[in-house]
Amino acid sequence: MGYYLDLYGPAIYDVFFDHGKEGARVLVETIREHLRPDMQVLDVATGTGFAAFEIAPLVPEGYVLGIDIEEDAILLAGYKAGKSGLRNIGFRTGDALSLDFDDCSFDVALGSQTFGDIDFQKRSLAEMVRVLRPGGLVGLVRPHPPGCKVYQALHATMLELAARHGKGAPDPLRGNPAADPSVIADLFAQSDVITLFCEQFAVAGARDFARSTLNLVSQTGSMDKLVTNILGLAEGDRESIITGTLDWLEIGQKIREERYGGQIDLEFLIAVGRKPEQGA
Ligand SMILES: C[S@@+](CC[C@H](N)C(=O)[O-])C[C@H]1O[C@@H](n2cnc3c(N)ncnc32)[C@H](O)[C@@H]1O
Repeated sequence: MGYYLDLYGPAIYDVFFDHGKEGARVLVETIREHLRPDMQVLDVATGTGFAAFEIAPLVPEGYVLGIDIEEDAILLAGYKAGKSGLRNIGFRTGDALSLDFDDCSFDVALGSQTFGDIDFQKRSLAEMVRVLRPGGLVGLVRPHPPGCKVYQALHATMLELAARHGKGAPDPLRGNPAADPSVIADLFAQSDVITLFCEQFAVAGARDFARSTLNLVSQTGSMDKLVTNILGLAEGDRESIITGTLDWLEIGQKIREERYGGQIDLEFLIAVGRKPEQGA
């Protein structure tokens, strides 16, 4: 998680992670028809509040609360809330794995790009469902479903980088397991959530390859580690890491242009479910 946290302190998360706004927008658009103006909404692991800010204008008589474990994220979100003029939005620190709310307190629980392994997803979903009223909605958006174009491009880049440096082929990149529709379907079923919607969608738009690289780096630790692993470098071999990174960007740009016409769409999984009505 370090990658995101490093972006909160210097307040640059919204610039680096601007595609996250698109994911949050589509998530809220997907559940829009189910919303009422007076709904109480919880945005879990809100970060700087992308999903919270999207939904707040649609529940003007309700309230949107965003929680995140990171104090810096909450500071940023709170600052944005103050500037937004919205009166029905607030942020505070909190743990997705142990939500500090009574059962059945909210009408909607959102989870926008809440990374973590399947165990984290399972436990945080169970908490979201616990605090939802019967009939309440849970909405998730996750980036990089298995097989997505960004990962195909990254894997092609890894292969060519390894070959250029005389190394063996790296393991295939699969994508984000937490964005796998069958995994979400399982998670929903285990949590007794009725699936309303579970589909992949792409955000079209030119993506700088370096930016897409950052998406991967977010899940692998750092560029150093990535290049070190692909090329089997000795730890701290600065020169090889730097030249490897430059090669990576050059190859990536070439693949982006030659195979994807200069544009690699980002793909997300959107999943919306409903907590069963009591006695249903
Ligand atoms: C990729 S960011 C997503 C932020 C935001 N929802 C968005 O769409 O941009 C993942 C967030 O999960 C938060 N997080 C990680 N573990 C958490 C936990 N146990 N409880 C609450 N938030 C957590 C991190 O602090 C980070 O803000």
